[in-house]
Amino acid sequence: MKSPLPIHALVTGATGGIGRGICFALIEQARKDGTSLLISAAASQPGERLDRLVDELRAAGAMAYGVAGDISDPAQCAAMVAQAQAQGGDLTALVCNAGASGPGRLADLPVAQWDRTFNLNTRSAWLMAQTAREQLARTRGSITAVASMSGLTPQPGYGAYSAAKAALIMLCRQLAQEWAAEGIRVNTVCPGMIRTPLTEAVYQDETTLQQRQALVPLGRIGRAEDVGAAVAYLASAAASYVTGQNLVVDGGISDHMLTMIPGRPGKPPVMHAQIP
Ligand SMILES: NC(=O)c1ccc[n+]([C@@H]2O[C@H](COP(=O)([O-])OP(=O)(O)OC[C@H]3O[C@@H](n4cnc5c(N)ncnc54)[C@H](OP(=O)(O)O)[C@@H]3O)[C@@H](O)[C@H]2O)c1
Repeated sequence: MKSPLPIHALVTGATGGIGRGICFALIEQARKDGTSLLISAAASQPGERLDRLVDELRAAGAMAYGVAGDISDPAQCAAMVAQAQAQGGDLTALVCNAGASGPGRLADLPVAQWDRTFNLNTRSAWLMAQTAREQLARTRGSITAVASMSGLTPQPGYGAYSAAKAALIMLCRQLAQEWAAEGIRVNTVCPGMIRTPLTEAVYQDETTLQQRQALVPLGRIGRAEDVGAAVAYLASAAASYVTGQNLVVDGGISDHMLTMIPGRPGKPPVMHAQIP
């Protein structure tokens, strides 16, 4: 029997909460598929955090290397893709996970903050994809970007974040159409509320944690591995006929709004009414 092709995945934001979850989910997926796996784990800077992650990934059974660079800088995006290729050959999967949000009212948002939000969450994925395109065309590989439920539903008070993630989803749909002829698949994953170092401060407050859980039809806050499993699926051979799609990983919360309207029938027995 022909053995499955080796996977070489470049994961941005790998040292962050969801990035780690993605790396370990890729290892799990490769184990199930009987595929050899090399992870190029990307962080914004070299150093102990990245080295530690690489050691953990190796201990978990993957080949792994670190690459570092600022995804808001086009030259550094290109350098990371080139370094990953030099270390492990052509990429078969690019995972654009790095991103950031920050509060800010649109009424008086500084232009620099708008630009930074779009550069980190949207433009970076295009830049990484553009430099990885030739490699991915040779391997008939995939791109998966981590957007957000905020790209599907407005998040007032979060400046340009919703707009940037919405643009990321459309960017990936467009890339999927433009690059399908080269065999490159492009999809997005939209996490809901996920407990990671980015959001941990919010969940330290027990009341907020319970209030948030009560809003999720599946009854819990998401974990990095929930998002990781979705990304690993989209990057796997099992998704070889899936492109231009957005997989929402949110426990059902994005579709939950109409059940919150008082006086409507069919309201499930969750605790919204108990929330102070
Ligand atoms: N947590 C949630 O509830 C949630 C929900 C929806 C969507 N998301 C999305 O999921 C993705 C991961 O979020 P997370 O919760 O795992 O956050 P996180 O722990 O803060 O991780 C974000 C990662 O992005 C990297 N990054 C930020 N700026 C960068 C830059 N200029 N250059 C290179 N890398 C940079 C960081 O790398 P360094 O640590 O090396 O600086 C960090 O590892 C983001 O795109 C976020 O918008 C998260």
